Amino acid sequence: MGITLKLATSLDGRIATASGESRWITGPAAREQVHRLRADHHAVVIGVETALADDPELTVRLPGYAGRQPARVVLDSRQRLTPDCRLVATARDIPTYVVATGAPDPALVDAGVRVLSVAAVGEDRPNLKNVMQALADEGLTALFVEGGGQVASSFLRCGLVTALEWFRAPVVLGGEGRPGVGALAVAALAEAPHFRRVEVHELGPDLWERYARMGQRGA
Ligand SMILES: NC(=O)c1ccc[n+]([C@@H]2O[C@H](COP(=O)([O-])OP(=O)(O)OC[C@H]3O[C@@H](n4cnc5c(N)ncnc54)[C@H](OP(=O)(O)O)[C@@H]3O)[C@@H](O)[C@H]2O)c1
Repeated sequence: MGITLKLATSLDGRIATASGESRWITGPAAREQVHRLRADHHAVVIGVETALADDPELTVRLPGYAGRQPARVVLDSRQRLTPDCRLVATARDIPTYVVATGAPDPALVDAGVRVLSVAAVGEDRPNLKNVMQALADEGLTALFVEGGGQVASSFLRCGLVTALEWFRAPVVLGGEGRPGVGALAVAALAEAPHFRRVEVHELGPDLWERYARMGQRGA
């Protein structure tokens, strides 16, 4: 099982302005590379706040591309996704999953969405390891997590991220911008998830940095 976390941020690690505007921080070459990376994974995973804010399709859109489309997965415990959004509207053509904690919403099911019910553990959300197992049962083990910040931090906190694909645009959004990675509860530097940079490329004005997970505590 491999989990890749993609971040498209400003130089100061923000993914959106305070008002939620995020399109487009990075340029066309970076976005094209993101589409290539999507094609290499079984599924693209996002949080419901990103689905509601951006109404994305999460498809591979490349000139001449006729290959398989990855499944789309929305972490949406309370099934707040609405039938009019692009992901739901295209669910009959491209496998689309909602990971929720309750019984499937008939409006989503009728639209062709596959609702995976995973019990909440302790809080309002399922344990991510249980979510990974539910997705693995569907044959989805190579996951491309595209945010937002809360989902990115959850995957990092659980130690589940094996690779980072970080696209960095030459813009500074400031502290009021939305963070690419939310709170991690890191008390000491040694506890922070550490990565090793394996590649760096220029994509027009942006940088594409690729990182692999190091052992715990940077060992
Ligand atoms: N620049 C970029 O490339 C980029 C990429 C993605 C997003 N964005 C921006 O980021 C913003 C949204 O990010 P966000 O951090 O506010 O929200 P988010 O991470 O997209 O979604 C968070 C929501 O997902 C649900 N969720 C379910 N399971 C979760 C889990 N294990 N961990 C965390 N969340 C879980 C929660 O809602 P429930 O409790 O109801 O389930 C939570 O409120 C938008 O403005 C969007 O435009 C930018």
